[in-house]
Amino acid sequence: MADKAIEAVVFDLDGVITDTAHFHFVAWKQLAGQLGIVIDEAFNEQLKGVSRMDSLELILREGGQQHDYTEAEKERMADEKNTHYCQLLTQLTPDDILPGISELIAAIKEEGIPIGLASVSKNAATVLQSLRLEGTFDYIADAARIQRSKPDPEIFLTACAGLGADPRRSIGIEDAAAGILAIKASGMFAVGVGPSLSGADYLVESTDQLHWNEIQASFSKHGCHQH
Ligand code: BG6
Ligand code: MG
Repeated sequence: MADKAIEAVVFDLDGVITDTAHFHFVAWKQLAGQLGIVIDEAFNEQLKGVSRMDSLELILREGGQQHDYTEAEKERMADEKNTHYCQLLTQLTPDDILPGISELIAAIKEEGIPIGLASVSKNAATVLQSLRLEGTFDYIADAARIQRSKPDPEIFLTACAGLGADPRRSIGIEDAAAGILAIKASGMFAVGVGPSLSGADYLVESTDQLHWNEIQASFSKHGCHQH
């Protein structure tokens, strides 16, 4: 039992609960290819946690085409990518919940700690439905109502507010650099998942290493020397 009570745990979705990053990549790669822009998996790292339109801007900039299209044309491109992405999402099943995540959620719930979702994806509800997790979260921040994308803390602060939790007594879990920055800016304790992430308060390489007792211990230790 942690000596500083944890009031909430807020999860990112893409890359933490399930690996949709590859589907996003496949759909963006096809759109970029039509524009004569080549993107690879390394470039895709920059798109993680970044909103749809901001992702498109990064891709256009990568191809030196950032001034070549009207807003309406960019909307059409983003819609085309999203249609393709949604087709790929139909393959998603509960088997695609990343290793260790169901156990982690169960352990948190067992202690009566509320859990939230902070995803900038407008497809979050569809993804949760495919994974059969639609009733799992106590609060889901609505990406459509978020004004500022990660690394801004807005979505994590919104999730904490929705759960009635103090961010300084809450934990955020993220796989993206922009997401870790957002968690830290919100005042929450940042748990990072990924081999090349930095800046997290507690870091593991993959979701199967997310053990609730270890996260709690790290949160307590951190809290003790921070306050
Ligand atoms: C984030 C993903 O969760 O959602 C990004 O990491 C994605 O890659 C963003 O661009 C927006 O998703 P969507 O589904 O609204 O296009
Ligand atoms: Mg993510």
